[in-house]
Amino acid sequence: MESRVADAEAREAQSAAAEGPASGDASQRLPVSEPLGAARWKLLRQVLKQKHLDDCLRHVSVRRFESFNLFSVTEAQKRTTEEDVGAWIQYTSVFYPEYSISLRHNNGSLNVEDVLTSFDNTGNVCIWPSEEVLAYYCLKHSHIFRDLAVCELGGGMTCLAGLMVAISADVKEVLLTDGNEKAIRNVRDIITRNQKAGVFKTRKISSGVLRWDNETDVSQLEGHFDIVMCADCLFLDQYRASLVDAIKRLLQPRGKAMVFAPRRGNTLNQFCNLAEKADFSIQRHENYDEHISNFHSKLKKENQDVYEENLHYPLLLILTKNG
Ligand SMILES: C[S@@+](CC[C@H](N)C(=O)[O-])C[C@H]1O[C@@H](n2cnc3c(N)ncnc32)[C@H](O)[C@@H]1O
Repeated sequence: MESRVADAEAREAQSAAAEGPASGDASQRLPVSEPLGAARWKLLRQVLKQKHLDDCLRHVSVRRFESFNLFSVTEAQKRTTEEDVGAWIQYTSVFYPEYSISLRHNNGSLNVEDVLTSFDNTGNVCIWPSEEVLAYYCLKHSHIFRDLAVCELGGGMTCLAGLMVAISADVKEVLLTDGNEKAIRNVRDIITRNQKAGVFKTRKISSGVLRWDNETDVSQLEGHFDIVMCADCLFLDQYRASLVDAIKRLLQPRGKAMVFAPRRGNTLNQFCNLAEKADFSIQRHENYDEHISNFHSKLKKENQDVYEENLHYPLLLILTKNG
């Protein structure tokens, strides 16, 4: 952060210096002081934007609990014909090590443009624990996806769970989505790289920007999916109702949604209330997996200072359309 501000400062100083030193003559000084003034305003604008960026990042990065350790992470092998930019890593399931995928986290930190021009960047920060748990759950229950059309909503910069479905299940098709364009650009590259490596079981894997609150995005896929899934997407007050609506419309009449999310205050309950009003039946599971439950109990006992159940332990909701 600071170094980018310093860089901007240095660049501004350089461009100001390029204008040449001010002479003692006022008529000659004026043309020099104008660009200097403009440069200072520009710098101030950048610093203010940077402050906004810092605030945003601070907001989204308050996360003291990292992971349920369900995937091991190693450096991915470099390809000789590598055209891709960024650092690739290999994510391998700890419990099902035959399933491994090459991933890239979004390059470096977020820049000002990313934060100011896109609506939500929480999915570009990290893979959140709920996504990791959903991904593990998909591997463990890969048989449930057989011959089905699956869509992940709000999958963030990797859509890890949807990728796990695509590498492990005899699925009909998988669509990986998020509302953030930068996240989806990264997902697109991840798909391309892993397709080249022949990792996917299905040939029908794709990605796209899908905003729950965008009528066109939702209506063109209306009734298309047997399973819609998402992780840690319930906390956004502004979009909770549109998420419920999108799930309902994307699902075919007998479809199901699989939702993992921590309670995060009252946000999970609020989502459930909206889903019930939208005529969904909801099964709510707190103990859906022995390993996760044990790990959760251990964390609770041993790491009270970093592990907050309300923020970190994902519950599983299964939504079924009534009627
Ligand atoms: C906390 S992140 C979760 C990302 C990922 N599922 C994970 O757990 O790592 C929430 C995600 O929801 C997406 N999102 C928020 N509002 C959205 C909307 N209206 N339409 C589509 N995606 C949205 C964000 O872009 C972000 O990637």
